[in-house]
Amino acid sequence: MAGEGAGVWTDPVYLRGEQYRSAGNLSSRQSIYAYQQPRIDLPKSVLDLAAPTGDEVVVDIGCGNGAYLAELLRRGHRGPVVGVDASAGMLRAASLAAPPALTLVADAGMLPLRDAVCSLALANHMLYHLADPALGVKEFHRVLAPGGRLVVVLNAHDHLVELRRAAEESWYDLGLPTYGGFRERVGLEKGEELLRVEFGAICRHDFVSRLVLSDRRPLEAYVRSMFDTALVPERARERYVQGVLDRLEPDSGGVLEITAHPGCFICS
Ligand SMILES: C[S@@+](CC[C@H](N)C(=O)[O-])C[C@H]1O[C@@H](n2cnc3c(N)ncnc32)[C@H](O)[C@@H]1O
Repeated sequence: MAGEGAGVWTDPVYLRGEQYRSAGNLSSRQSIYAYQQPRIDLPKSVLDLAAPTGDEVVVDIGCGNGAYLAELLRRGHRGPVVGVDASAGMLRAASLAAPPALTLVADAGMLPLRDAVCSLALANHMLYHLADPALGVKEFHRVLAPGGRLVVVLNAHDHLVELRRAAEESWYDLGLPTYGGFRERVGLEKGEELLRVEFGAICRHDFVSRLVLSDRRPLEAYVRSMFDTALVPERARERYVQGVLDRLEPDSGGVLEITAHPGCFICS
């Protein structure tokens, strides 16, 4: 796919039709966390903080391949659980991961749900895909019952900073046009600002770790799944991917370290 700018991050045609057509790209990115030290199981850690009672009506907005839905069910959640995603392919994966969950193909900006329908809403690693994230937060608030909570996961600005830097350098080395997508479009700071408009109480938790790799090979699938890689003209894509990998410098012991820094907000 050719194009430029950060537009792909919010382009529903690209998101539904290419990047998230199936769970492949997301799974490639998730699998790199096998190299994380210390290992943080993000769905488990986030849900530990949210501490659901087990009886809530839960709506997971932009549920992807169902990592949070599966974790809820693993905990024996008894209340109704609904996964919403713009991609039918993602929901197929979510249904396999969490068979009892109901699934709905819908846009997060216009949820086909009545006001105050749920007591726990999740919107994890997805706010940056909405053209108007402020309206998205308003919509998430609309479906929450009084006393309900919204959980939002986003990345800090130093998340994968080494990899993004390498990607940016490889991009401009190929003479590609200006592209703003190497920075977080909605990171933790921006996210907090948006959430404060709608919610009175917000608790932030950061999860900082390192991806520790003794060679660059496990990163290759990750680099191929990235948003910027999809924008590189096909004839230059191999050079681009190799350029990113070659720029990642291992330390003197041959070990490569990359910062991982997501965080979550519990809002009420
Ligand atoms: C990075 S994945 C996150 C998946 C999951 N929440 C997680 O944290 O593992 C982003 C998901 O948001 C979905 N998505 C993107 N834009 C959306 C929109 N406007 N409405 C609903 N889902 C959307 C994508 O299809 C994708 O499954």
